Amino acid sequence: MKTVVKKINPGRFQDVELQEACCILQEGGLVAFPTETVYGLGGDALSQGASDKIYHAKGRPSDNPLIVHIADLKGLYDLASDVSPKALRLAEEFWPGPLTMIFPKKENVPMATTGGLHTVAVRMPSHPVARGLIRCSGIYIAAPSANLSGRPSPTKAEHVIEDMDGRIDMILDSGPVGIGIESTILDMTADVPLILRPGYITEDMVREVAGGVSIDPAVAAKMPKENVVAKAPGMKYRHYAPHGQMVIVEGKPEAVAKKINDLVKEKESRQRKAAVIATEETKEMYDCKEVYSIGSRKSEGSIAAGMYGILRQMDTIGAEFIFAESFAEDTLGQAIMNRMLKAAGYHRIKV
Ligand code: TXA
Ligand code: MG
Repeated sequence: MKTVVKKINPGRFQDVELQEACCILQEGGLVAFPTETVYGLGGDALSQGASDKIYHAKGRPSDNPLIVHIADLKGLYDLASDVSPKALRLAEEFWPGPLTMIFPKKENVPMATTGGLHTVAVRMPSHPVARGLIRCSGIYIAAPSANLSGRPSPTKAEHVIEDMDGRIDMILDSGPVGIGIESTILDMTADVPLILRPGYITEDMVREVAGGVSIDPAVAAKMPKENVVAKAPGMKYRHYAPHGQMVIVEGKPEAVAKKINDLVKEKESRQRKAAVIATEETKEMYDCKEVYSIGSRKSEGSIAAGMYGILRQMDTIGAEFIFAESFAEDTLGQAIMNRMLKAAGYHRIKV
């Protein structure tokens, strides 16, 4: 299959530029498109055939449900059978934006889209191209992140091309995304909203609007525990992982740099390829051929935006060992460390 790549300027485009993409979606094909969080791999959410194609293109296990993207609240009522006043308040506060909510599904949503569950995940993205595509096609778009299963999520079109060229019909290229980390997922089927995946919308932000919030114990755990099963099926898979062996080193910056420099020296003395994931503030402290800055410690947003690109870069350079600094787990840091720890298979060293 030939994959067409089409550039769309997110700040200035006309609906006709989306026409070809809309036709592909209407005919059951697949189009990757930008959202404010990461690039998505879109197909018609109400078509079993399109959902099957998405799983196939990603190489994704078919029990891992897809998120359905809508452009207005009518979409929510078309897909979800029970929307509580609390959910509506959250929607009014955070939509369009990086929040996904889970509801009991209506009959018309195929089980193929929800991975066999009776619930459906719904999100109203704020990215103008995502909104334009949903509106112009008249389609509710099922879209997981547009990476091959197990690889880091794509934050620019080049990442999508790396993984999806030849596997899907079209890629809309609108440059790098703004946030760089997937949406917060909230299960709204319980009385108290339950965070299944941390993201840009934090626990405190949800609590303020909903009155209360809890967090899935499998997500809060610093180590995966055998007896705690993640409620979002996708969270149980090893994810976001570079091919190299990654370790997170925690402690004061000087101690971390000393430990990492020792580890790098040991690997390099055996002709093994080591790389360091540092920050703007600390990158000069390392004595290694491959030092990468993920962003600035003064801005958690820059770290979130840089993370997946750097994890991909580790594979591009063929890093066999990856030593990464760690980040405070407050606000956006919770989502960042959730992904970093998964990428490292929960290997961490305290110094
Ligand atoms: O920011 C995002 O959410 C991006 C963009 C493209 O919108 N999408 C995304 O999709 O990250 P994906 O498929 O990579 O992650 C969806 C997660 C998976 O962990 C899946 O298991 C969970 O959402 N999920 C979807 N439907 C669910 C449901 N009904 N119940 C529980 N978890 C669900
Ligand atoms: Mg994903």
